[in-house]
Amino acid sequence: MRPNDDPPARSGQRARHGPGPEVGPVVVSEEALRERIAELGRDITADYAGRPPLLVGVLKGAFVFMSDLSRAIGLPVQVDFMAVASYGSATRTSGVVRIVKDLDADLAGQHVLVVEDIVDSGLTLNYLQRYLLARRPASLEVCALLVKDGQQRTALDLRYVGFHIPPDFVVGFGLDVDERLRNLPAVHAYDAGDPDV
Ligand code: IMP
Ligand code: MG
Repeated sequence: MRPNDDPPARSGQRARHGPGPEVGPVVVSEEALRERIAELGRDITADYAGRPPLLVGVLKGAFVFMSDLSRAIGLPVQVDFMAVASYGSATRTSGVVRIVKDLDADLAGQHVLVVEDIVDSGLTLNYLQRYLLARRPASLEVCALLVKDGQQRTALDLRYVGFHIPPDFVVGFGLDVDERLRNLPAVHAYDAGDPDV
């Protein structure tokens, strides 16, 4: 098989999709993400030997992490997704969690591993854990790529964590602001600019 070598039809359009000035410095680099996700994959492969987990990705933010993590696990995992909304379009949590898309899979007897992009207040995950436990999985654990230091407003049991980061807003690698910038390949600080200007 050979990649398609044809040039893009109008390559000049690419530049207009650049990230823009609000994308700040790299907080977690592509290389660090790659290495840490490989490690998490090895840990999960060892911990779940003989009982392959059902990975439950929390959309939309976890879609990039889920894709990389699932391929770093050497077990016949299943994948499913839930979509929850906890933010509206602001950069601060409302504390209100709404299930926008529920799981397709039956959790009874399954070893469920929730795959989250980022834990900020922890309210989303706290709600999800209670919601999923009510469906009687054989076990329930969480793998969060990012945890914001000092922000959690509820006790959480996080079995796997990728990185602890400062409590500032970040974008990229699945994380958005107003549904944009999810496709940046690294995690970046986000600078909303001075609202008074
Ligand atoms: P929590 O309920 O406050 O823990 O917020 C969790 C959800 O808010 C995450 O799953 C993200 O979707 C979103 N979120 C929290 N912090 C950020 C951020 O810095 N950038 C983008 N989304 C975030
Ligand atoms: Mg999320």
